[in-house]
Amino acid sequence: MKSVSVTLKNISKVFKGFEGQDIRAVDDVSFSVKPGEFVTLLGPSGCGKTTTLRMIAGFETPTKGKIMIGEGDVTFTPPWKRDIAMVFQSYGLFPHMSVGNNVAYGLKMRKMDREKIKKQVSEILELVGLKGFEHRPPSSLSGGQQQRVALARALVVEPSVLLFDEPLSNLDVLLREQMRVEIRRIQKQVGITALYVTHDRTEAMTLSDRIIVMNSGKIMQIGTPNEVYEKPESKFVASFMGKIAFFPVEIKAIMEDRVKVAIKGKELVLNKEIEISENLKYVLGCRPEGLYLEAPGKGHIEGKVLTNVYLGNYVESYVKTEFGEVMVKTEAGVSDGFEEGAAVSVAIKEERAKLIPDTQANS
Ligand SMILES: Nc1ncnc2c1ncn2[C@@H]1O[C@H](COP(=O)(O)OP(=O)(O)O)[C@@H](O)[C@H]1O
Ligand SMILES: [Mg+2]
Repeated sequence: MKSVSVTLKNISKVFKGFEGQDIRAVDDVSFSVKPGEFVTLLGPSGCGKTTTLRMIAGFETPTKGKIMIGEGDVTFTPPWKRDIAMVFQSYGLFPHMSVGNNVAYGLKMRKMDREKIKKQVSEILELVGLKGFEHRPPSSLSGGQQQRVALARALVVEPSVLLFDEPLSNLDVLLREQMRVEIRRIQKQVGITALYVTHDRTEAMTLSDRIIVMNSGKIMQIGTPNEVYEKPESKFVASFMGKIAFFPVEIKAIMEDRVKVAIKGKELVLNKEIEISENLKYVLGCRPEGLYLEAPGKGHIEGKVLTNVYLGNYVESYVKTEFGEVMVKTEAGVSDGFEEGAAVSVAIKEERAKLIPDTQANS
């Protein structure tokens, strides 16, 4: 299958609200998806993900900016001339047609030879794990199977780009996990360029080569799953990617690959993972697994255990501190000494703590 790039240059979309007010759904968004890459737009509800995807598909026209598919400018090209297929949350299958006819639909529209259609449909159904389902009505299939049919129908016309808008949101948790892995496998096998929309960070982490984190119509950060999780460039991205506590820090010294900081006079030496500017304010971000519990006075932040939650291998301790409630995740057995109500000290693993620009304080 051919793979092409998708590029957005300074794309904005402004809708008119009921009272004639401007709704800036997408605000100066630029990014590029490489041929064969799987990129996810991740962000809270209403941040502009669907609008971005619909502009790429051609269902909406940008207010400003340019969209390229491969080398071609498609900003004003109608959807059916874009060589794109889209998979939605609602599967959108034709209920009165068999699975086979649902998948064959796009090929029949293209007036492909009957035998060839039959062969291609059967191949694509095998790819999505529905070999031999040609004659079944969609209503006899489970939600996950129906979503596979929708995926087969999108793939069979051999589009250059595959778009997904929250395709797994209607499925139960176990099926969703299984389908994530399936979608990833199929996309890699076919080698198609894919752009996926979700508000679910685990889904984004599992599927993507790169994640684009959005908020209020803007791109907050673009990076690999590991980069956005481990090197968030803002408190928003840090919190959106997972539980994290923020502590106020003072930068004491910037060295070549280390940074000395202090939380209320207690010093820590961190790896310098991002460029640190003396003119900006930072917070110290600590994920639950980057903290542990110590006896009072021995760690960095004093507190009191509110609750211990036992999760088999791990214990999640919720600790009340002067900087708010902090979650500490330790291996079971490691900090069993700290009962609920006990005074403790939260200690920071220096190699796991990250300096994060305090965007609010800096603006
Ligand atoms: N057709 C429309 N008319 C007016 N406002 C819209 C329209 N489509 C979307 N919006 C608004 O644009 C913003 C972004 O919406 P959307 O792209 O659907 O977000 P997401 O998919 O991230 O949940 C929201 O505030 C939404 O209400
Ligand atoms: Mg949406």
